[in-house]
Amino acid sequence: MKIEHIGIATRTLDDALSFWRDALGLQVVHTEVVEDQKVRVAMLPVGEPRIELLEPTNEDSPVAKFLEKRGAGIHHIAVRVDDIRATLERLKRSGARLIDETPRAGADGCLVAFVHPSSANGVLLELVEHTDSVND
Ligand code: CO
Repeated sequence: MKIEHIGIATRTLDDALSFWRDALGLQVVHTEVVEDQKVRVAMLPVGEPRIELLEPTNEDSPVAKFLEKRGAGIHHIAVRVDDIRATLERLKRSGARLIDETPRAGADGCLVAFVHPSSANGVLLELVEHTDSVND
């Protein structure tokens, strides 16, 4: 496994980019609206892992709710796995509380699934499997 990215909740990407890109000097390699999660994302590599800046596109976005409750900050940590379904099975067997029992479409054509913070020491954990195609 590897750290795939660290998700940071922001009110607006423009504002966040003025720090992460313009002041710190990271490069934006990818931006995308992930409809399923109602967020606009910008990906900025730091070595292999990336900073994933998240801006809600809608008031009922989970990120909008997070911002309302806790303000801007680290929203989740994403770990890359080879087989997301096998990892979910393993977690299920161990009694972990899953937000997603089955993988769904994430940014960049990946499969993703979230594990509830109550099972991961208060950290919202995202599992990511890179796929060449999501036809399965
Ligand atoms: Co993420």
